[in-house]
Amino acid sequence: MLSEMGGVLLLLLCMAASEVRDVQTRPIDFVCDNQTRRGLNRVEEIKSAMGECEGSGLLPSAMELPCVGFNMEAWGKNSPQEKRGLVHTALKTLAEGFKKVRAQTQNGCQSTLLERLQHSVTNYMLIVANLEIQGKDGGLHSTCHGRKTQHLDQVLMQYNKLLRGMLELFVLELRDRCQGES
Ligand SMILES: *[C@@H]1O[C@H](CO)[C@@H](O)[C@H](O)[C@H]1NC(C)=O
Repeated sequence: MLSEMGGVLLLLLCMAASEVRDVQTRPIDFVCDNQTRRGLNRVEEIKSAMGECEGSGLLPSAMELPCVGFNMEAWGKNSPQEKRGLVHTALKTLAEGFKKVRAQTQNGCQSTLLERLQHSVTNYMLIVANLEIQGKDGGLHSTCHGRKTQHLDQVLMQYNKLLRGMLELFVLELRDRCQGES
């Protein structure tokens, strides 16, 4: 059910490429509909799929982890554009990492898991990039250099932390636009 909703959202995002109207409506649902947004989180699903994929826990090379830890006071000083920049940079670190290790793996089912992860992260990146945020783009990029790990469960843990922490906080701060939405 949740996975179906994610599929629909992804489909709509693909359609959005040709339907400018949807580019504006979908991200609003992402912000205003908790269930839709949280239903996009694939981490638990992939974690259990790992159990049926022998050897998937060890990646062919170490992957950089996104910076997901933050201090609330420093976070609050960032403009919404800068917050988006931080979230986007963290997602991009993961997307690039998944792409890199997927190209190296010899393990077929691990490759499938990495492909799913890559799609999932790319989906979030599209949504975050399409959110309408007033004001100039702040060119803030994270200066943190994440740790590296070769263990997929650690990558998943960090991905989950990003989704449930920084991304969730960023989105909840945009909720003033939800008045009048369902
Ligand atoms: C969505 O989640 C936030 C934070 O958990 C909560 O404050 C808000 O009331 C929720 N909104 C709805 C419509 O459930």
